[in-house]
Amino acid sequence: MKVVFSKLTTILLLCLVIVSVNQSAAQEKKGTTDRKWWKEAVVYQIYPRSFKDTDGDGVGDLKGIIQKLDYIKSLGVDVVWLNPIYGSPNADNGYDISDYQTIMKEFGTMEDFDALLKGMHERGLKLVMDLVVNHSSDEHKWFQESRKSRDNPYRDYYHWWPAEKGKPAFRPGAFEADGSGWRYDKQTDSYYLHYFSYKQPDLNWENPKLRQEIYSMMNWWFKKGIDGFRMDVIPFISKDTNFPVITQEELDKNYHGRWDVYMASGPHLHDYLQEMNREVLSKYDVMSLAEGAGMLTSTALNFVDEDRKELNMGYHFEGTNLGYIPGYFKKMSPNWSLVDFKKIYSDWDAVYNKKGWGTIYLGNHDQPRMTSRWGNDAPEFRAVSSKMLTTFLLSMKGTPYYYNGDEIGMVNAKFNKIEDYRDIETIAEYEKIKIAGGDLKQFIEDQKTGGARDNGRTPFQWNSSKNGGFSTTEPWLKVNDNHTAINAEAQEKDPNSVLNYFRKMTKLRKTNPVLIYGKYTLLDKENPNVYAYTRELEGKKVLVLLNFSSKNATAKTGINIKKSKVLINNYTKASKNGELRPYESVIYQL
Ligand code: NOJ
Repeated sequence: MKVVFSKLTTILLLCLVIVSVNQSAAQEKKGTTDRKWWKEAVVYQIYPRSFKDTDGDGVGDLKGIIQKLDYIKSLGVDVVWLNPIYGSPNADNGYDISDYQTIMKEFGTMEDFDALLKGMHERGLKLVMDLVVNHSSDEHKWFQESRKSRDNPYRDYYHWWPAEKGKPAFRPGAFEADGSGWRYDKQTDSYYLHYFSYKQPDLNWENPKLRQEIYSMMNWWFKKGIDGFRMDVIPFISKDTNFPVITQEELDKNYHGRWDVYMASGPHLHDYLQEMNREVLSKYDVMSLAEGAGMLTSTALNFVDEDRKELNMGYHFEGTNLGYIPGYFKKMSPNWSLVDFKKIYSDWDAVYNKKGWGTIYLGNHDQPRMTSRWGNDAPEFRAVSSKMLTTFLLSMKGTPYYYNGDEIGMVNAKFNKIEDYRDIETIAEYEKIKIAGGDLKQFIEDQKTGGARDNGRTPFQWNSSKNGGFSTTEPWLKVNDNHTAINAEAQEKDPNSVLNYFRKMTKLRKTNPVLIYGKYTLLDKENPNVYAYTRELEGKKVLVLLNFSSKNATAKTGINIKKSKVLINNYTKASKNGELRPYESVIYQL
């Protein structure tokens, strides 16, 4: 009897093992070969305000993007993500929307938008819009109504706290000099919530009516033919409307000591994303991308596991937060560690081994220029380090999000005075330091290499003429003086330019599925100078070597590259003895 029982147990165990091996093989397959257009795409992000001005007001516009469509197509990208172009008073450059179904006056008209969409589709390009629905502008009709009286039908479109209950518990307001996320409104003797500036009141997602308004607005844009949404701080939409006191101990214990992690943990967040998927996203072949504020490796799949039917992708902040010195506002340490950098990207790659799909980026409108931050913007290294970073972005697993201007190696603005800055965040931080009696000069210095968002927002450098060919008049934000040397026109003529390297890289990714779906393996992980990894798919294997330092360096990969074929290299001839020159990058086919 005992023998029979133990035989049965063994058989049962074996069955279980077989089932789970099969399951994980199926999942492995799903992660790598379940093809989708948005997995294969290279996304090019355009900051419309700074791209091209055609009507001479110093602000970029939709006609400017239309004018440059052939240029965009020539890059070999597939999708364009536009930062917000809706009606807005521009407290935060369009991230404060006053009308979701109109076009910002400075950018043009709905006819311009239709022409832009048509022009893109004719060229096989897809258009992704920015969806900013954690908050609206305080000039949105909903808020104008909401603040009128406590019984206004729009009152519950926002989060209000009646003053007779005392001061509400602290919540951070990112763009306020006093740091508070609540603002007192005299008209109804109440406070309203704003996680960003007081001009950006948070919408109340707990109200089903508000959610329906949003879904119908999204459907309206999809019916117009857009191809997806990038969703601004979407993890923050759901709130615990009791607004309990959150102590530092609680933050430390449950939220990694971070407010963004707390704010990304609202009680109904995933119910709402699933509802949005049912009511909107599932009806179209579109892509959806979460700006993953507060997203962790442990929570990412809650957003993008395809079985949960929420979103396609998210982008995390761990890579771009690396190297900031604690206690300062985005002050960059010159000694950031490549070993940590590699660990972050490798850990995030592992999240999507079996399910979901990742993203990769180094710059965007909220970041300094990638070359200044992760490469080297000194004249002798600027071009080569830009190309090295482009090699990284386009050879990693995950959809690459590539920021306009990086393809010509634009670098930080490095403004010398606060008056040159336009960004609400930098100005608020400056005020904070002023109020605290801190070192303002040092702050301005730190922003040259650190996180001032205007570093990445200066107008696109089209040519060497006044205003860089961006505008015929003085632009809303200064053009970088180096436009005389760094510009698209000059680089068009040079086959070895940063621009033409980017084109080669997009083509290489397109023609080598191993670069899209291939399994990623980190090599020589403790090497402080070189990032080395392989990508493998269906018998094809490539080795990527990236020297992140200004010195010669080698990597111990254990791979013999003597017989390999060089697919791309950012110097004229790649080394075959494994020694890399400063910022050298090579992809070998093994
Ligand atoms: C994230 C956006 O990328 C940033 O530019 C904006 O200021 C905040 N969200 C608030 O909308």
